[in-house]
Amino acid sequence: EGIIHVVASSGSMIVISNRLPFVLQRNKDGQLVRKASAGGLVTAVAPVVINGNGFWVGWPGLHLENPDEPMPESDPDDITPTAGLKSNKVIPVQIDPKVFDSYYNGCCNATFWPLFHSMPDRASFKGEHWKNYVTANKEFAECTLKALRQLPKNAADVPLIWVHDYHLMLAANWIRQFSEDENIPCKLGFFLHIPFPPWDIFRLFPWSDEILQGMLACDMVGFHITDYCLNFVDCCQRNLGCRVDRKNLLVEHGGRSVRVRPLPIGIPFERFVELAEKAPKVISTNQKIVLGVDRLDYTKGLVHRLLAFEKLLEKHPEHLEKVSLLQVAVPSRTDVKEYQELKEEMDQLVGRINGRFTTPNWSPIRYIYGCISQDELAAFYRDSAVGLVTPLRDGMNLVAKEFVACQINIPPGVLIVSPFAGAGETMHEALICNPYEIDDASEVIHRALTMPEDERILRMNYLRRREKLNDVNYWTKSFLSAMGSLQTQEDYDDIG
Ligand code: F6P
Repeated sequence: EGIIHVVASSGSMIVISNRLPFVLQRNKDGQLVRKASAGGLVTAVAPVVINGNGFWVGWPGLHLENPDEPMPESDPDDITPTAGLKSNKVIPVQIDPKVFDSYYNGCCNATFWPLFHSMPDRASFKGEHWKNYVTANKEFAECTLKALRQLPKNAADVPLIWVHDYHLMLAANWIRQFSEDENIPCKLGFFLHIPFPPWDIFRLFPWSDEILQGMLACDMVGFHITDYCLNFVDCCQRNLGCRVDRKNLLVEHGGRSVRVRPLPIGIPFERFVELAEKAPKVISTNQKIVLGVDRLDYTKGLVHRLLAFEKLLEKHPEHLEKVSLLQVAVPSRTDVKEYQELKEEMDQLVGRINGRFTTPNWSPIRYIYGCISQDELAAFYRDSAVGLVTPLRDGMNLVAKEFVACQINIPPGVLIVSPFAGAGETMHEALICNPYEIDDASEVIHRALTMPEDERILRMNYLRRREKLNDVNYWTKSFLSAMGSLQTQEDYDDIG
C-alpha cells in the first residue's frame, strides 16, 4: 500500500450510474449548464475516470428535447473534481420521461428501495414498473457500449466498467453480451450502495432471478459489509441453484466464477477536517446540541428518533432548557407518496413535541427541512455534543463518518449509531442504539450527554483514526484492486 500514491486504474474506466456526477440545468438564456455535485463518491471516482481518459454514463437530471444537443463544458470557475471531465467524455442517457418516471420513482424508489431495506410492507410490485426498469437498464447498457467502442483497443489494458447501485442491476447483462458480440473485451464490476436483504425478503420480488442474473454478469460484485455479501451468495444458491463458496465468497454462474467482496465505503476525510477547521461558528447557544442529518426518508428512523428525544426530556428533566435536538431533513424523492406522508408526519410530530416542552427561551427541537451548505454542515458536526445516526436500516451511512471527521474540538462529542446501518458494523467505539426501542434509545442519548471527557476523547480518537485510514480513496483503491485494475506507482515508473 505504501507505494501507491495516486488512485489510478490500469485501463480506462467507464462509470455507469443513475445520476451523472453533475446535474444539467438551463440558464436564463436557455443554455445548458452543469451544476456540480459535492458527493464523496464523485470526488474519489471522477479523477480516476479523467486520468484514464474514460467516460461517465448517466442520467443528466433533465429531459433533452433534442438528444443531439451538445453537453456543456464545466464552468471556468468550477473547482470540483468533475471539472476536468470533458463534455465528450460524458454520455447522457436519454429516456422517455414516462418510462423514466416508472423506472426511477416506481421500480427503484417504490420497490427496490423499501424491499432492500427489509421493509417489504412499504414496497409496491407492479409489472409495468418492472418492464420500464428493464427498458431503462437496456438504454444505459447501450450508452455504455457507445463509450466502450470509442476507447482505444489495447490488449494489455482491458477497460473497466463500474456499474453503480440498485438502479442498474440488469445493465451488466447486455454490456457483457454486446462486448462479446463485438469482440471488445472489458471487465465488469458492480457496487451496491444500499443493503442487500436476506433471501426471505429478496424472494418476495417476483422477478428476483433476473436481478441476480444481471448482477452475476459482472466479474466482481461489491457490497458495504460481509452480511450483505452473504445474503447475496445465499440468494444465488437458493434462487438460481448456483454452486457457491461462502468462505471465499464466490458464486459460479454461466461457466464463470463471480467474486463477491465487502468494500465498505469511506468519506473524503481530510476535506471534512478542512471544512471543520475553516467553518465559522453558526450555532449560537450555550445549550448542548444533539444533531441529526438525514435525507427525509422513512429508512432513517426519524419518527423513532423524535420520540426517543421526547422520552429523554420526560425521563431526565435535567436536560430541559439545556439540550436541543437539531434535525436537518434534506428533501428527497418528493414525487413518491411515502415521502410526502413522512413529511406530514414529521411536521406534526415536531409541532406536538415543541408545543409540549417549549419555554420562552428554549425549544427542544430545531427542525430544518431543506438543504444546507457544506460549511454550515461542517460547523454543525463540529459544534454538536452528540451525533445521532439511528436509521432503521442503512447500507452504510456517511453522516456518521462525516460527524467524526469534523469532531476536532477537544473534548469531542459522542457518536451514537444504529446496529442496522453498515456504519454500526465498523464504528466500534460509537454508542450503539436500537432505534426501535424508544425507551432504551432515550437512555443511550442520556449516556452520551453525560459521558466523562476522557471516555469521549478515547472513543473519538479511535473512530477518527479508522475513518482517516479507510477514506473514500482507500475504497476506490480497494475496488480497483478487487478488479485487478489498480495501477501502482511501479506501473508509473515503468511508463517512465
Ligand atoms: O444511497 C443510495 C442513493 O441512491 C444514492 O446513490 C443517492 O445519492 C441517494 O441514495 C439519493 O437518492 P436519489 O438519487 O434517488 O436522490
